[in-house]
Amino acid sequence: MPSRTYAQIVGWGKYVPSQVLTNDDLAKIVDTSDDWIRTRTGIVERRIAEPRETTSTMSIKAARAALQVADVTPERLDLIIVTTATPDYLFPATACLVQDALGARRAGAFDLLAGCSGFVYGLGVGSQLIISGVYQNVLVIGAETLSRIMDWTDRNTCVLFGDGAGALLLQASDTPGGVLSFTLGADGSGGDLLILAGGGSRHPASAETVAQGLHYVRMNGRQVFRFATRIMGQAAKEAIQAAGLKIDDVDLFIPHQANIRIIQAAAKQLRLPMDKVFVNLERYGNTSCASIPIAFCEAIEEERIKPGDHLVLVSFGAGLTWAATAVQWPVPLPAPRLSSWKRLLRRVGYRWAWFVSRLRRTYRKLNVWWGRAAGRIRGHNNG
Ligand code: UT7
Repeated sequence: MPSRTYAQIVGWGKYVPSQVLTNDDLAKIVDTSDDWIRTRTGIVERRIAEPRETTSTMSIKAARAALQVADVTPERLDLIIVTTATPDYLFPATACLVQDALGARRAGAFDLLAGCSGFVYGLGVGSQLIISGVYQNVLVIGAETLSRIMDWTDRNTCVLFGDGAGALLLQASDTPGGVLSFTLGADGSGGDLLILAGGGSRHPASAETVAQGLHYVRMNGRQVFRFATRIMGQAAKEAIQAAGLKIDDVDLFIPHQANIRIIQAAAKQLRLPMDKVFVNLERYGNTSCASIPIAFCEAIEEERIKPGDHLVLVSFGAGLTWAATAVQWPVPLPAPRLSSWKRLLRRVGYRWAWFVSRLRRTYRKLNVWWGRAAGRIRGHNNG
């Protein structure tokens, strides 16, 4: 019988900016309080990117960490998926910026937009490309610079979100486990409940769209809350069932870190005790696509994930969208520390990738310059 291919998670990495913005800091900017934010959301502080940091720079740091854990060189990557609602540009894709910086010469690269559910959507797509035998190594990144699209005068939104990035590396394996199932969903009729309306083809950026604040996130929090409390448990149940598991088999539930009340409601719906639920939103707020991979990395750091464990990741977000996946953690846990010479080699490799990228850019400029110069010479000779 031909052996099956599984998509195992073999690498993980995260990056969060060092700048911390506390609830008390926010209370100095908008009409809110630490007490309101803590009791209504569970958030205590969030991270804010420095001006020089962007979604791609944070993605690159998380990606390098994931590749280091797995001891996989960038040349072995087949595909890079960056899931984000705050790309560096509308195009080129942030994934291409990451591909270039890593020196992942063989990799395809694209961005995936599915609101805060993007990361689980990305895991679904990436794992299927591995299970079907198309690819060996797929890097899925969730990264956001949400501070850049916040209206810092709108207390309904600015207290909720934060910046950061996380990455998981999926690899083909014949060891059973890894991504066992996933479910993806959408209800576009709720698109206006959480929206960034400006800058697209409907409302191209103009002085008017800026004056109207269309470049900021707008949200109907109450409606999104209602949707989230209903859909999280439902999506998780579907993924658990599709994996042939029962709710009692779940060892750790890693939900999208949006609001502690939403997480508690989902756990209650699933009849899961809170000690089986991973929560870190008090430190980072809602980092959208980055929230699940950052939580995943911290669950590993805190030794909350053991070999053979069944994990369920579930998310909801703008679209409206939802997504859930069931994962069986590989046995044994592949986390040997890379030797110092290998780490040095990696650093040299990244400098080399930077150099090659600059060389290519210069070559293109010279090519254009030479084309123009040759045209001028021909024109001169003909004239
Ligand atoms: O990844 C998906 C992203 N979106 C979400 O996860 C959002 C889901 N929704 C939520 O998490 C909650 O709905 C919120 C945290 C946004 C709001 O909590 P809530 O318990 O649903 O509050 P509310 O919207 O019903 O507002 C209650 C009151 C309002 O005042 P009035 O109308 O009762 O006088 C708000 O104006 O709280 C007021 N309020 C605030 N007060 C202090 C809203 N934001 C704040 C604030 N500080 N930051």
